[in-house]
Amino acid sequence: MTAAVEIDHLTVQFGLFTAVKDVSLQIRQGEFFSFLGPSGCGKTTILRTISGFQDPSKGIIRIGGQDMQGIGPNQRPTALIFQNLALFPLMTVAENIGYGLRVRGVPKADRDRKVDELLNLIALSDQGNKKIEELSGGQKQRVAIARALAVEPKVLLLDEPLSALDLKLRQHMRNELRAIQRRVGVTFIYITHDQGEALTMSDRIAVMNRGHIEQVGNGRDVYENPETAFVAAFVGENNGFTGMVTRVADGLATVETALGTFNGVNRKSLAVGAKATLFVRPELMRFDGEGENIIDGHAADAAYEGITTHLTMKAKDSSSVVATIAGATAKAFPESGSSVRFAFTSRDATVLPA
Ligand SMILES: Nc1ncnc2c1ncn2[C@@H]1O[C@H](COP(=O)(O)OP(=O)(O)OP(=O)(O)O)[C@@H](O)[C@H]1O
Ligand SMILES: [Mg+2]
Repeated sequence: MTAAVEIDHLTVQFGLFTAVKDVSLQIRQGEFFSFLGPSGCGKTTILRTISGFQDPSKGIIRIGGQDMQGIGPNQRPTALIFQNLALFPLMTVAENIGYGLRVRGVPKADRDRKVDELLNLIALSDQGNKKIEELSGGQKQRVAIARALAVEPKVLLLDEPLSALDLKLRQHMRNELRAIQRRVGVTFIYITHDQGEALTMSDRIAVMNRGHIEQVGNGRDVYENPETAFVAAFVGENNGFTGMVTRVADGLATVETALGTFNGVNRKSLAVGAKATLFVRPELMRFDGEGENIIDGHAADAAYEGITTHLTMKAKDSSSVVATIAGATAKAFPESGSSVRFAFTSRDATVLPA
């Protein structure tokens, strides 16, 4: 099947600065695809290039197999939703949704039918006559989506559309967005710097760093099998211990760090002498001291978060090491300052190039 969107060796430069560096990937039809990365890594630039608001310096964008060079934003089968939504405040909900159809000269009866259908899709059936200002943040969000979908784009581009909402609503809207996407089957390309958002909604995620792609995979891949130290540290919480590889055997690497000599899975087949970071997820770090690798330090903090408790230890080089344990079964964490021991098994640790 032809890719919905193909990014082929895309580079975007602003003067001497390279915002996007030789990015290639294919986004499948009907896929919910996210770009995840820190501020300034080039996410919006990629989206603007797909939508036609930004020309590539090098490389090609293909949509449905067609080269988009020279094709303006209005001629592309894409619709873009910005962070601020850009709804028309003086129009009703229905007028906002029908706007794109009106400028395309779609007859009123057809337009009304489509608007009703979309109001239904976003569960605002009886609220078409409301003014935009009478809506909640989440409702406005849904109107922006309906307005974008009205012109039947093949690809919907969303640039951090939930970032203005409060946490509770944001979590609710994640599910809504995903459900809407499933119902309409349109390809969604979603930008976020919130890894929780990316993990819960996406079929696949491209993790970006400084203009290039570090890894593409589903949520599980990028969380459980990070390919680079950047992905390991950026996606989810992680403990990282940096040092030098002193031994390799049986798929494990031994890394000498400031906190001790630890073993972990040698995912990238590093050789002795390589600089490496050994990562251990907080949920795999054990507070009961069981495991081949031991870290001693002093209790710093126990943050109760309902389902889990975050235990923080101050290690001997005064860095923090975190262990997450099930809240209900959490043993009382010793008083701040008293000695504690964390441990992990070698198979639960991942060694990546530093
Ligand atoms: N028109 C422009 N002229 C010059 N530099 C630009 C322009 N647009 C973006 N940049 C630079 O390119 C880099 C990438 O910007 P971009 O907006 O793509 O980042 P982003 O990943 O979307 O970040 P954020 O999460 O903060 O929105 C930034 O360093 C930015 O300053
Ligand atoms: Mg941006």
